[in-house]
Order: sequence, then C-alpha cells, then structure tokens
Amino acid sequence: MMTRHDLTLGIGALVILLTLILLIRLEPLPSAPLAERPAVMSSQFLTDPFLQDPTPTSVVVVWFTEFEGQGHRVYWGEPGQPPPFSHQVMATSRPLSRSREDPDSHLNHPDFADLTGTVPRPIWRHQARVEGLTPGQRLPYQVSSTPRQGAPFYSPVFSLAPAPQAGQPWRVLLTSDHQTMPMTAANLQKVEETLGRVDALFLAGDLVNVPDRASEWFDDSRGNAFFPCLQGRAHYPLDRGGRTRYYRGGELIQHAPLFPALGNHEVMGRFSYTALLKEQFNSPRPRSVAIQDYEARANLFNPSGDDALRRRWIIDNSFNSDTYEEIFTLPQTAVPNPDRPEQTSRYYATTLGEVRLVSLYVTQIWRPYQRQATVQGRYQEREADLATPANWGYGQHIFESIAPDSLQYQWLTQELASPAFRQARYRVVMLHHPPHTLGDNIVPPFTDPVPRYDRDGEGRLRGVYYDYPIAQDQIAQHLIPLLESAGVDLVFYGHSHLWNRFRSPSGTHYLETSNVGNSYGAFWRDQTRPVPGPDHGTPQDYLAQGDPNGLEPVPPSLVAPQRDSQGQPLPYLASNDLTAFSLLSLPEGVVSSYYFDTRQPQSAVVKFDEFHLRG
Ligand SMILES: [Fe+2]
Repeated sequence: MMTRHDLTLGIGALVILLTLILLIRLEPLPSAPLAERPAVMSSQFLTDPFLQDPTPTSVVVVWFTEFEGQGHRVYWGEPGQPPPFSHQVMATSRPLSRSREDPDSHLNHPDFADLTGTVPRPIWRHQARVEGLTPGQRLPYQVSSTPRQGAPFYSPVFSLAPAPQAGQPWRVLLTSDHQTMPMTAANLQKVEETLGRVDALFLAGDLVNVPDRASEWFDDSRGNAFFPCLQGRAHYPLDRGGRTRYYRGGELIQHAPLFPALGNHEVMGRFSYTALLKEQFNSPRPRSVAIQDYEARANLFNPSGDDALRRRWIIDNSFNSDTYEEIFTLPQTAVPNPDRPEQTSRYYATTLGEVRLVSLYVTQIWRPYQRQATVQGRYQEREADLATPANWGYGQHIFESIAPDSLQYQWLTQELASPAFRQARYRVVMLHHPPHTLGDNIVPPFTDPVPRYDRDGEGRLRGVYYDYPIAQDQIAQHLIPLLESAGVDLVFYGHSHLWNRFRSPSGTHYLETSNVGNSYGAFWRDQTRPVPGPDHGTPQDYLAQGDPNGLEPVPPSLVAPQRDSQGQPLPYLASNDLTAFSLLSLPEGVVSSYYFDTRQPQSAVVKFDEFHLRG
C-alpha cells in the first residue's frame, strides 16, 4: 500500500523529471551532442533544406518555416563525420511578402480551413552561405530552427558541395514544367531511383501554377507540391488502369543546387488584396500600359513623385515575379542600364566546372487560342470589355524583351563575349519559351502583339484583334542567330510539355524535356495546331504543323520510337502515361533521356535517346 512518504517521493521524482525535461528543452544551441538533442521532427520545417548558388568554395543553404523563430543555423562536418558537427553559421531570415491562400488552395491546415477569400499566409525563409569548401569534396550538413517558445529542432543530415572543377565527374538533371501535374512525383522518384544523386538541376520554368499560392510550393494536400516532389516528401496517388500507386518524388535538391529559369507560371499579374489568386495570375498587362495609367493619376497618390512608390505602383499594376525571386537565391546580374543601376536574378550566368550556364527570362502570358467574342484570348479582346480598356488582356504580351534594343539582349551580348563564356568547354542556354518545338506554344510567334482596332463608321470600337508578325519574332529573328553565332552547344527549354529535340545546321542542339507531369500533345503529320485561318483577317500565316522555325525533329537515337495509332514512328514523346527526364553528364558532355511508363509501375526506366553536345 502506498504511504504518504511514498507519495511525496513520487511527486518529488516527477518534479525532478519534469525539471530535467524542461532544462533539456531550454538547452542553448548547440552545446549538446545530437544524441541528447530532441528527436528530429522535420514536419516542423515547411521544407527540408536545399542548395543554391554554389561558387568554387561555397554554397547557399535555404529552408522555410511557418514561424519567424530565432537562432536558425546551418551545421556541417567533415567527410563521413556523424553529427554533432564542428562548423556552424547563423542564417538570415525574412518573410515571403506575397505568399497567400484562397478557396482554390488544396490545403489541410487548421489556420486556412473553409476560406472564403484571399488571405496572407505567413512563411519565413532562412538562408546561410557555407564558406571555406573544397571543390570535389562533399560534406554532411543539417539545419536547425527554434520557435519563439520551445526547443530547437533539427533537419535530417544531407550533403553539400561547392561548384565543381573542370574535369570533375558531374551530372545535371534537365527538367521543367512540374506544375503539380499528375506524373511529376513519379518522374522525380524515378530520377532518384535510376540515377541516384545528381549534382545539379536545371529547371526551365513553370515550377508551379499560381506562384503566390504558398501551398503549391510547400504543402498542397493533393501530395505533389513543388518542394515535396523535389525532396522525396511527396505522397501523390497516381491512378492507372483502376489501380493507385503512391509516389514520393526524389530526394534531390537537399544535395544538389537548383538553377531555375522564369516561366510564365512564375509571373503574377496585377496585385489585389481581395481577388482570387488565379484571377490575379491571369490579369497581367504590359508595363507600358501601367506607366500610362500611372502618369494619368500620379498626382493623386504620389504628388511628390517618390520613385520607390512609382516603381511599386507600376509593378503592382502590371506583373511581378516577387515570390519566385524571394524563394530562390541565384547568381546576380548587373543590368546594363546607365540610368538605373540594378541587380537582377531574372536572367543570369554562372560557371559550373566546364559548363557556362546562361539562364534567360523569355516568356509571355499564355492566353486561350479560342477566337470567340466571349474569350479574352491571344487573338482578341472580349467583346464585353471593349468599352473598358482597364479590363483588357493585351494579347500574349512579352514580360521581358529579348529584342536587340532590350537590356536583356544587351547583357546577353556582353555575356557571350566574356572570357567566362568564351573559355567554357560547354555552353548551355536555358529559357522557358521554345525556339524549336512540335508543341503548341510556339504559335503565335514570340512578338509584342500588334493591335488592330475595328471601328464602325462613327468611330465606335467593334473589336480589338492582335497579330504576331513572324518577321518580328524576337526568338527566331534575333535570339537564335545570336546564340548560334556565339557557339552555344545546347539550348534547353520547356513550356509545351513534350520531349523533342533538334540540331541546327551550325551544330547547336535544342532540347525540350518538359513531358514531366503531363502533355498537351505534338503537332506533326495529321495533328494540327488551332491557328487562325484567313477568316480571321490576319495577315499572318501561323504554322499548324511541325516546327515553325524550320528544323526537323531528331528521332530518339537508342530505342525504336513511339508509334501513332496508324503505326507510324513518332520523332517525339508526348504522353500522359510516359514521363520523361534528361541528364547532362560531365565531363563527357553527353545528354541522355529516359522515360518511365506509369502504366507499368514495376517496369524499368528506359534510356531512349543520347547525344553528345559536340556531336
Ligand atoms: Fe509555360
């Protein structure tokens, strides 16, 4: 029978135990070995850490939490060393300024249940640069974050390395157009299972669908958000033939730096506190229109002409890539604008061993091809909007010009003439919009839309139509000749969601490897793009089949090509069952492409194409 003395002893022991637990929880960083630290609870991070912007002696580590916290740190050790690690660096933290959710979000989160409108979602980003690294040496690392109240918690251990040296074996995954599409998690899981660890990822745009919707990046409840797919933490049910198989993605970017390019899905349109996020995504208008609008009203809200306020207003009333730019740490470019010195990461170049990578900002708003008066499309304004220019879409306008008079083009000509570019063994250019493709999105040409105003006899507007003069195609007329004359080996891109490749007479390879999560088909032989006919009144003759910029596709080199329903061989891959990825292997300079048949989950991945950058 328990006595009063026993009870007192018991309570005393409990108090000591609770005090010990409390002391352990209040333990200052990072004195205790990991074995005494609280268990890893990575669910308290919004992402695992991932790598960015390596130099020959350093690399940046980035991660996200849903709280501001304190004392965020990166720890790293010597090769093969288990934690606790001997080196550490404090991270800097900042909130994402535009991360939001709305009723269209797929999110199991108590703070965002039953949303009726668009609301901000607090998310903090932490980053630190790990310095003093040795090229060719991979080291273990982990990160820790500490909530305002509570104990620190620690990520699992991953590995980091600086940029490679020339000649070092190094492999780059070429991928794009993830967009929470059905096959993305399976694709990235097969990358990890087939290739093991890659050393870098080049991602040619369209990472998510609506970039200000936080859950698409971090925790979409369908199980296939951007970071989980690239970190092996997805849980996506893929239905094939009545059977469901779950895919987790691949543990890739915890160990390998990610180099993205801006796609049309990284750009938000006009900002609003209240409109649904997809509405905002679909409502960009050209900067020139926003500037005109600003100048007509500036004396009302900016009478002193404050320059920062002017710039913000124009951006908020046209388009922005703020969330993309806040999420990633990328090489910085000095914009060659003598009037306004500015750094940007929207286009950049960097050296990775014997590769010079140039990433461009070449994309435009995507608008529907239907030519109906009720559709705000690429070829016309909506009839209901004709009297209200504030509602116009302005066709498929370009976000950042690559015409010869543009700052981006001027920077590119400097870059292509630089010693870093000229001396690189391999020259790779990445952009989102396709220079050559059998896919849909190469039509109409990549030009500023030229408006045609149809008026009645009294001057009233009856229609606004947009033409895209082939002779003004910025990619075909200016960019391709510039890149080929500079000896670019590989131009890599996405946007049309298929795999196809081309080789120009001068030897430049063109590769689109965007049949990752889904496909919208290819336009070859009897398949025709929906282009306007002569009844549209356009002087343009948009190409309905094949590559409008004049190259023939190169069929897969290793296995028999896919066949159409008539048994004809197809020089491309455009499938919602097969998912494709490509790998650049260095120092060999070989690009290999693989597909996985999601209808046969147990089947082996098939290497179906291979070419040499100098072949
Ligand atoms: Fe796209």
